[in-house]
Amino acid sequence: MNSTLTEDLSGAASAANPHAASTRGGPEVSIIVPTYNESGSIGPLLRRIEAAVVGKAIACEILVMDDSPSAETVEAARAAPLSIPLRAIRRSGARGLSEAVMEGIREARGRFVLVMDADLQHPPESIADLVRALREGADFVIGSRHVPGAGAPRFSALRRLNSWGASLLCRPLLHARVTDPMSGFFGCLREAAVAADLRATGYKIGLELLVKTHPVRVVEAPITFGARHAGASKMTLREQGKYVQHLARLYGWRYGALTQFLRFCCVGACGMLVDLGMMALLVSIGLRFPAARTWSILTALPVNFLLNRRWTFRGCGSAGIGAVGAQFLRFVGACSIGLLVSWSVSNALYWAFPAWQSAYALLCAAGIGAGTMANFHFSRNYAFAPSTAHPPDGSGSA
Ligand code: GDD
Ligand code: MN
Repeated sequence: MNSTLTEDLSGAASAANPHAASTRGGPEVSIIVPTYNESGSIGPLLRRIEAAVVGKAIACEILVMDDSPSAETVEAARAAPLSIPLRAIRRSGARGLSEAVMEGIREARGRFVLVMDADLQHPPESIADLVRALREGADFVIGSRHVPGAGAPRFSALRRLNSWGASLLCRPLLHARVTDPMSGFFGCLREAAVAADLRATGYKIGLELLVKTHPVRVVEAPITFGARHAGASKMTLREQGKYVQHLARLYGWRYGALTQFLRFCCVGACGMLVDLGMMALLVSIGLRFPAARTWSILTALPVNFLLNRRWTFRGCGSAGIGAVGAQFLRFVGACSIGLLVSWSVSNALYWAFPAWQSAYALLCAAGIGAGTMANFHFSRNYAFAPSTAHPPDGSGSA
């Protein structure tokens, strides 16, 4: 969705303007600056960005992505005399820092995108370090407050603690070791960002990209997190609440299949208890073994099905007695395949390794493990069809 209301191209690229030199038609770097009531800071920021890239042969464009209620920020940006192409965009779509950055990514034309705050807490002088790392092959670069040489001298103790806790919570989501995943000063290849399945809300669009672009080489450059130049922070308790929601979605996205598998195993264990309990009951009331076995299995199977439908693969979409019945039959099919795999694996091992033939438990366990995985695979992809069972960000399974 393109929610651009007004747009301005000033300091447009020209042959006389070395900073507008293009990489395959576009600039090398698109600097995306989300803004909300930053009329006091945006002018000084733009001037400092220009001073920081002049002479460094970095061809930039700047995208100011503004959600302010008034036009002041955008007007202040356009009033700054700049030799760098600038697009100051007043947005009308869903407001928010992450949303603004995501739109900026869609609008950008550079080979790299670089995101930074407008309030000068991120030193523009560090842009060259980040760009250098990208040029040297980094997949993702971060202006970090926690690597040697960095600092956040004006950060309150509470904010530090908050940031530390927030970083700890997201660690299992990251592919690479990162000291400052909460940073709002970061960059990556534009193509990687555009291709990523971005669905962030709140402040942590950097984390979203860090998780979803799967960077192999992450480089952190030290920055000194400065004091806000003017105005006030927009970070509120509500934004912090959004972080928790954002984390839950990211965990679902990253570990959706694993979470489902663990649930599937729990349901399997419950089904086994139902099966054994029913067996004990039926035998105690005098049923013969074959009949009791039949009825206990026929009880456990629908219990397993319903638990998986309601919990493991919840939101599977199909409703109505006919659709649920058809789903149940597919589930029986998936379980039958699981049983066949279990039987085959145990027997294959029995014949392949004569030395293990007395280790019944081991042979059965190997079969049960393989059978459970096959059962899970067919339940997930056949009985509870993936197109409806798993929303793309995994939010239905987290
Ligand atoms: N477009 C848009 N829409 N921009 C916004 C919005 C919004 O709703 N809310 C905030 N911004 C802009 C601000 O104008 C500023 O340029 C930038 O996003 C950061 O906002 P601040 O309010 O200054 O955030 P902060 O200083 O508390 O937090 C920063 O540092 C954190 C690290 O501690 C941000 O960079 C966070 O992302 C970062 O985690
Ligand atoms: Mn700030």
